[in-house]
Amino acid sequence: MISQEQNDALTRTGPGTIMGGLFRRYWIPALHDWELAEPDCPPVRVKLLGERLVAFRDSKGRIGLIDEFCAHRGVSLWFGRNEECGLRCPYHGWKYDITGQCVDLPSEGPDGPMRKRMKLKAYPCIEAGGLIWTYMGPPELKPEPPALEWVKVPPERRFVSKRLQDSNYLQALEGGIDSSHVTFLHSGALKSDPLFIGSKGNEYNEGDKMPQFDVVDFEGGLLIGARRIAENDAYYWRITPWIMPWYTIIPPRAGHPLGAHAWVPIDDENCWAWSINYHPRRALTDAELTAMRNGAGIHVKYVPGTFIPLANKTNDYLIDRAAQKASVHYSGVEGIGMQDASLQESMGPIQDRTRENLCPTDLGIVRTRRKLLQAAEANRLGQRIPALAPAEQHVRSCSIVLPREQHFKEHARHGLFAPLDTDPLTV
Ligand code: FES
Ligand SMILES: [Fe+2]
Repeated sequence: MISQEQNDALTRTGPGTIMGGLFRRYWIPALHDWELAEPDCPPVRVKLLGERLVAFRDSKGRIGLIDEFCAHRGVSLWFGRNEECGLRCPYHGWKYDITGQCVDLPSEGPDGPMRKRMKLKAYPCIEAGGLIWTYMGPPELKPEPPALEWVKVPPERRFVSKRLQDSNYLQALEGGIDSSHVTFLHSGALKSDPLFIGSKGNEYNEGDKMPQFDVVDFEGGLLIGARRIAENDAYYWRITPWIMPWYTIIPPRAGHPLGAHAWVPIDDENCWAWSINYHPRRALTDAELTAMRNGAGIHVKYVPGTFIPLANKTNDYLIDRAAQKASVHYSGVEGIGMQDASLQESMGPIQDRTRENLCPTDLGIVRTRRKLLQAAEANRLGQRIPALAPAEQHVRSCSIVLPREQHFKEHARHGLFAPLDTDPLTV
């Protein structure tokens, strides 16, 4: 349980908020690169951290992310004409380049004084790992490009999807670091999902419903270890890194690709659940890619033409009570992604954390909240914050069976901080 004040500090991310200030120090996943497929293609609405923006790729292929609304009389530039290196408002023809500068103001004639004064807010963008990223913080503090492992692997080793989630980002992030729910909520999926089946770890998962948690700091965030009983004298450890501010990596099962997420606030009541599968060492197979595209594993099926999951709040997530009773799906909802999202959305847009009752398996959640609040305060004071340097983002998840006297913090380092292009440490 936390105070209302702490809950507000953790969950509000708009301009001027303490968490919004922290999040604006990092590169933010904004779009799939294919959403702006070619020069002068249609612009796309983008809302991040409560700010309404519009993204476009100009005639030279450069990406602009600018205020959604025209400086003249507030028309949405989503209706704009993307032409000749700028986005032109269709109302009276004012035109903006990727820096937000007004480059044409027809009613004033060429090069009038008003045109020069008109400049919309604009954020720099880069492309990496199949995504378009933006930086919404102070220009002088812009960090180096993101260096998460899934961003750095060659494209054929990675699959990325995103889905819209109707909840504050923190509910989603807290699900990502809470590996105790897997034994319950995802128990059906462990037996049937093509991206999860066939791991010895699944048996340990099922066999021990009381995992012991231990959480260790590292330069980029936290390593959340969950320990379950394995054979005599051994424990099965699953170690989930949380890389600040919102990246989590699921510990692997057998030879399956790793699963990673980014939980990115759209506004305080909605977030993007970016879901990434990647294998550090090999290309994803056709069978894996087919499963991912069909919504298996951490991915979902969509309402056609949208990023809205097909199973959603308006259809009660297609819950199947017979499947629930038969434990085909523990909650009756199909698919790991929607099993999580349905329950996280059910908490309401912003969970009232003054009424929760945490238990020992929530240790990772407690530590994550504390670290977020500490980092936000450090940022406010102008002090150093974690995970800005590329080296601090170099970590991956692992699963490992260790003798009982060995702790993951010393004995799983070779799996967590492995060099690029090496096989994951997995059970
Ligand atoms: S409202 Fe955009 S040009 Fe007039
Ligand atoms: Fe989950």
